[in-house]
Amino acid sequence: MDFEEEFGEELEQVPPEFFDRDRFVPAIGSLEADVALVGEAPGADEVEQGEPFVGRAGEVLNQVLEDIGVAREELYITNLVKIRPPNNRDPKREEIEAWDPVLEAELDCLNPETVVSLGNFASRELIGTEKGISQLHGKVFNRKWRILPVFHPAATLYDPDKRPVLEKDLRKAFGKPEEGQKTLKDL
Ligand code: URA
Repeated sequence: MDFEEEFGEELEQVPPEFFDRDRFVPAIGSLEADVALVGEAPGADEVEQGEPFVGRAGEVLNQVLEDIGVAREELYITNLVKIRPPNNRDPKREEIEAWDPVLEAELDCLNPETVVSLGNFASRELIGTEKGISQLHGKVFNRKWRILPVFHPAATLYDPDKRPVLEKDLRKAFGKPEEGQKTLKDL
């Protein structure tokens, strides 16, 4: 997929003050994917390599995907905001709003069975809630798409107890249950 070709019209609508080319990271994956992963915003490693989730959080994500038997290549992986916020600060509301139409166009085009939102920012935005990820993770929210929020992989680096929870929630999203665990297909 050539992201800029596919979503060129929407990218042109992003106000220039929120579109710094030197900090831009496009989505990766197939527009035929059944599942979209939506992160927060790229970090320094992502900008360097031009791909979402290739730094430390990406290593965790890749490992969990491997553990549950899902190939990264099968997924569509994107971010709420496609520009790296300076000094790794949280994305601002204006940035999220500036990039919302691009995400909406991506999901419209993909029409995924499930959208897995990674962490607080993507989950709150896609679900339309002020609640935090600790309350939201692992539950299904039927909005325009079916949203399943999970902990951000980076959160497991600070709190290793979140790692098995992330794995369990992703198993649910991908229909790769552990014995006795419900998947989306059961709901
Ligand atoms: N964290 C995110 O939310 N997105 C990335 O692409 C990398 C780290």
